[in-house]
Formats: sequence, C-alpha cells, structure tokens
Amino acid sequence: RTLDDAGDLKGQRVLLRVDLNVPMDDGRVTDATRIERVLPTIREIAAAGGKVILLAHFGRPKGKPVASESLKPVAEATQGLLGSPVAFASDCVGPAAAEAVAALPDGGVLMLENTRFHAGEEKNDAGFAKALAENGDVYVNDAFSAAHRAHASTEGLAHLLPAYAGRQMQAELDALTKGLEAPTRPVLAIVGGSKVSTKIDLLENLVGKVDALVIGGGMANTFLHAAGLGVGKSLCEKDLAGTAQRIMERARETNCAILLPVDAIVAEEFKAGAPHHTYGVDAIPETGMILDVGAQSVERVAAAMNDARTVVWNGPLGAFEFAPFDQGTVAAARHAASRTKAGQLVSVAGGGDTVAALNHAGVAEDFTYISTAGGAFLEWLEGKPLPGVDALRVKG
Ligand code: 3PG
Repeated sequence: RTLDDAGDLKGQRVLLRVDLNVPMDDGRVTDATRIERVLPTIREIAAAGGKVILLAHFGRPKGKPVASESLKPVAEATQGLLGSPVAFASDCVGPAAAEAVAALPDGGVLMLENTRFHAGEEKNDAGFAKALAENGDVYVNDAFSAAHRAHASTEGLAHLLPAYAGRQMQAELDALTKGLEAPTRPVLAIVGGSKVSTKIDLLENLVGKVDALVIGGGMANTFLHAAGLGVGKSLCEKDLAGTAQRIMERARETNCAILLPVDAIVAEEFKAGAPHHTYGVDAIPETGMILDVGAQSVERVAAAMNDARTVVWNGPLGAFEFAPFDQGTVAAARHAASRTKAGQLVSVAGGGDTVAALNHAGVAEDFTYISTAGGAFLEWLEGKPLPGVDALRVKG
C-alpha cells in the first residue's frame, strides 16, 4: 500500500520513517542524497495538511544516547534542503517527543532524535514500538535502505498503525522490480568488489536469475584461482575455491554465462600511480597484484552490455579508489550510461562502493536508477525477504 491509499491526511500525525544515515564529517553532511530523495514524500504529506514526524536512525549507538550520533545536524541539513522549518525533538519517545508533536501545526515538519538511542529499536521491542506509535495516526515507510532491518521503526510500527510505502520506497521497489523481478531480458549482472566471502549468497541467487554474470574486482581472483590460474600476490580467498567452483557449476546448470577477466592490470604495489602492466590472466607474474581488469576484458563487458536489455550492477571492477586502477570500472560505467541514454538498456545499480564508483565515473545521473541502499540492496540481490517491505504488503 502506498501514499495513494492513505486517504485524507489533513491534521493526521504521520510518522514518516526515513533513512538519514548519511555520511558526515565534523558535524556536516557530506553527501545529502538520502535526504534529497525523501523530500518529495515530506512535501506531499505536508501539502496535504499532514503533520510530518520524521523517524530515523543514525550510526550504531548501541541503544544509548551518543552525542556524536545525534540527528540534530541532519535536521538542520534537511531544513536547508527543504527550504522550510524542520523542528527537532531531543527524544523519539516520551515527553520531549509528545510535546514537540503536540506543538506541530498541520503541514509542519518535525524530526525526532535517533531511534537507536533506545535498545528497543533494534530488538523490535513491542513496548518501544508502541511508544513510537503513540505519536502517530498513520505510518509511512520511505526507508528502503533500512528495510533489511526488522527494527521497531522499520517493521514493528507497520503492525500498529495504518502503514503505507512512501514515494522513495516506491521508486526503489519499482526500479528493483525492473532490475530483477520482472526485467526485460536478457539480464546482465555485474558484480565486483574485493571479496567473494561477502557475496556468496548474492552470486548464488544471481546465477539462477540472470542470463549473464560479469565477475570483476578482487573477487574475480578467487574464481581465476579456482579455474587453476596463478594470481601472484593478488587478493585471493583460496579457501573459497570450492565455493567458486560450485557457483560456476550452478551457472552451467542454469545457462547463465559467467564472464571472468581475460586480462588484468598488474602492479607490484597497492597504491595510486604504481607502475603497472597488462597481462593475460594465464600469465600473471608471481610478484604481481591484479588491480584492475584489462582493456580486452572491458571490451567483453561492453559486448555483453550490447547483448543485454537490463544491467544490474554491484561493486567496482578494480581498485577504483586508486588511479589509474579505476579505468576498467570507469570505461564499463560509461558504456552502460551511453546505452542507457540511447534507450537500449535499463541500468540499475546500488551498494555503497558502487555509487561512489559511478559518481567517480561521472555517469551516475545517466543510469536508469541508482539505489541509495547498501545492505538492503545486497540482501535484495541475495533474494532475501526485506522485513520493512514485507510489513507493508496487504495481507490475504
Ligand atoms: C544503511 O546505511 O545502509 C542503512 O541505514 C542501515 O544501516 P545499518 O547497517 O547500521 O543497519
């Protein structure tokens, strides 16, 4: 159920769960994307005369108030971006919250302090959820990126008040459905990042769903090793060779083509500007470290994109933080962006490093959809249920 089903919100106290877990440096928000993405929902509820009461977590304060994890600076940043006042209450339950809610005019916006300052939040404690619910008539969840957590403000509350998905939650779910649940085929998944160990479930789920899978980044080294190739001093989880073989086997069974690098950029040091050469993956020197995919591999990825109608991307193809080892990721990202702009591809990307890499390539705007989610995007790629989403589904 979405805001469209919520009826007349005039005078209603709307508890709006948002994800404002934004990067901060020295008390200042350094990337406001998550705030910007929820502004349409805030504006829509306020315009309908609802009282907008923002609920959010910040950091991992472990159930106790921690000054450095207060949402106050985030409330100030939200006020600046919204262009109208955002009041702030020093607690999300109890008298401070109740008084601030009582003082809120129709169409006004209030942010309550970090829900994780209470241990009941992460425990999804029924009493804590009830205390939160006391300040609302309606619950709207716009925090897809926190939907993998079954916490009181993301899951419990949905059972206590009429519950609806906000516009950002809707946009994420629409994009993800286009990416994997009901995609235009063929679907190509691109999975990179440093370690296979963090993405085993994801790879296993994807090989059963997509038509082709590019494996890049440090994790490709484990697959090359499993295929009997030498990877020198590269990052490699040798103990996961069996897992890599099992994933390759499952891909054969499901007719999912796996594309591993065929050449690699190799250096002897892991640092920006380190001297480097390109080698075929059957000739990696013993003293070398694979830090990026080579030009031939990028061409193969581009060709796979040309064959695909949908691309789902998680994880960089090389050590993109260190130039020039960002070049494989940048070239592949630009190709995906240009196919998307030409209307030939639906491109959906997500996960912290991925968004940073696409921003670095200067193409994030050109993708069909960039998810603001980290862990929730990964769990969705793994095919796991997301409690915050499931709690919003109409039962029966
Ligand atoms: C995120 O930043 O991915 C979400 O806000 C969830 O945060 P968490 O990993 O601390 O639960």
